[in-house]
Amino acid sequence: MAEMRPQAGRVRGLDRGSTLAIAVSKGRILSEFRILLDRIGIKPAEDPETSRSLVIPLKDRGLRLVIVRAADVPTYVDYGAADFGVAGKDVLLEYRGEGFYEPLDLDIARCKLVVAGKAEPLPRAGRLRVATKYVQTTRRHFAQKGDQVEVIHLYGSMELAPLVGLADCIVDLMDTGNTLKANGLVVLETIAEVSARLIINKAAMKVKNASVKALIAELAEAVDQTATDRKPER
Ligand code: ATP
Ligand code: PRP
Repeated sequence: MAEMRPQAGRVRGLDRGSTLAIAVSKGRILSEFRILLDRIGIKPAEDPETSRSLVIPLKDRGLRLVIVRAADVPTYVDYGAADFGVAGKDVLLEYRGEGFYEPLDLDIARCKLVVAGKAEPLPRAGRLRVATKYVQTTRRHFAQKGDQVEVIHLYGSMELAPLVGLADCIVDLMDTGNTLKANGLVVLETIAEVSARLIINKAAMKVKNASVKALIAELAEAVDQTATDRKPER
């Protein structure tokens, strides 16, 4: 008989068991996401930041974290290898699959995706060279403005590119602005406001609807509470 799960079969060789899996990257996103989990009484069985294990059960809740690279989160969720994911909007804008919903802005890991360059006019002649790891988003952004650019794909240290003549400008994340400032660069344009989003595999939403919806509702509450607690500081 045919498998009842829509999209089942896309994931091979992984025993998913009956728990809900949440794909998340270590570092910035996990440390802030843990605060939200904590608010709803969910704690990891071991410390994900120090453990070498890539699958971390969450106590008492039939949930587990799967630890992946930040840019890989949408892939795991799209293919159903994880039910949920926590990914930056920057990463989601780059991803081309359609196998998930994005039901909740978690309001964590906030920053901006910007075009930055030296504090001098950009060259007018020829195609602008833009260094970035956000190739698709950069192409889209400049195409929408009708600008022809050459996108140079880098994997890190984007701020270096204009300093050594590799590119005229960069597209990268900015939070405090310290990294740009330290390298003599300024923001030329903001492309997007970025925060981490909860994403959910479309099939999991159908098949595990009750438990999925319950977790989304709990997390939404935690996000609201956090915003309320933050207000007096602003
Ligand atoms: P990897 O470590 O796998 O190379 P990464 O460097 O993108 O990936 P992080 O630096 O942890 O991983 O960033 C994860 C996400 O956090 C980004 O996709 C973005 O949404 C957000 N982020 C990145 N830099 C900042 C920043 N300076 N301030 C706030 N949020 C940020
Ligand atoms: C990110 C981003 C910038 C920096 C911006 O790098 O790529 O370089 O943060 O933050 P700021 O405006 O507060 O200085 P990150 O520190 O994550 O290092 P990475 O290159 O490993 O991603």
